[in-house]
Amino acid sequence: MIDPFTAVWLVTGCSSGFGKAIAAQLAAVGTKVVATARNTDTLGYLPDNTPHVAKAVLDVTDPDGIAAAVAMATARFGRLDIVVNNAGIGVIGPVEDVTPEQTRLQFDVNVHGMFNVIRATAPLFREQRSGLYINFASMAGEVSIDSLGVYSASKFAVEGLSEALRAEMKPYGVDVMIVEPGPFDTEWLGKNAIWGPRDEARYPAVWRYVEMMKDVYADRNQVGDPARAAEAIIDAAGWSPPPERLPLGEASLGATRSKIAALQSNLDRVEPLARSMHYTASPHRSATMGRTT
Ligand SMILES: NC(=O)c1ccc[n+]([C@@H]2O[C@H](COP(=O)([O-])OP(=O)(O)OC[C@H]3O[C@@H](n4cnc5c(N)ncnc54)[C@H](OP(=O)(O)O)[C@@H]3O)[C@@H](O)[C@H]2O)c1
Repeated sequence: MIDPFTAVWLVTGCSSGFGKAIAAQLAAVGTKVVATARNTDTLGYLPDNTPHVAKAVLDVTDPDGIAAAVAMATARFGRLDIVVNNAGIGVIGPVEDVTPEQTRLQFDVNVHGMFNVIRATAPLFREQRSGLYINFASMAGEVSIDSLGVYSASKFAVEGLSEALRAEMKPYGVDVMIVEPGPFDTEWLGKNAIWGPRDEARYPAVWRYVEMMKDVYADRNQVGDPARAAEAIIDAAGWSPPPERLPLGEASLGATRSKIAALQSNLDRVEPLARSMHYTASPHRSATMGRTT
């Protein structure tokens, strides 16, 4: 078990939103934190010349820069205990219309960026035989909805890589917690949103849905407070073990519950067909590919 308040944290994407809220709360209570951003001028909300706070340039698409930030962090604090893979962007538009460049950018940041940070920190966690990754997926990592196909694809990827990482690193005492926020009041659908080409004649319902989503994000009563999310994440990091998935907010909770019901209902419907394949399941080759633990 890791005590989140005595741990050393590294957080990506601290210029705004969840990353900023997490870094600010850790710094405020004296917890050691390496707050990272593409541009450290955006970290002015954190104190300078304070022993427990370090600021570092980190672009998740730049492996050399990540290595330099991690080296600085370990030189400064001697170890890293919790890595928050928070940095992310949202590409919005119908699957057909989002450009190949936008799709690539979505995956470069949300998926390959996370792989880059994991590659740079996993050796340290394995050597220490402890550590916690807090990987930001989304409620869109559980359910995909119109206009968020590309974003959801990236967050489903985060869910998949995180599940495998949890299993692979378990023998080293390293854990993974996936965070699944619903709508929160950050720059995600604000200045940082990336808009796919808008062809309303082709996909009128999709763009109506986008307008509805913008209304939700513009209404402070309908979006969560990232400071409350940061509190919940820091708290859950101290659970033994941390939750495998942490949905944040009613929308996320409801979406996952609906997804479970839909999966169950589909499975019931196709079960006879699936079973009709007639292969003989050997005791060594179960539905979990032979895993027995
Ligand atoms: N807000 C929501 O409703 C919501 C819901 C579910 C999940 N999420 C997820 O929450 C995470 C944080 O987003 P947010 O909501 O806090 O939005 P945000 O306010 O837009 O923050 C995103 C952060 O990611 C950083 N970033 C973008 N590209 C980067 C890169 N290449 N390298 C390093 N940092 C980069 C941004 O830095 P710059 O200032 O340099 O661009 C910013 O600090 C994301 O993974 C997002 O997908 C958000």
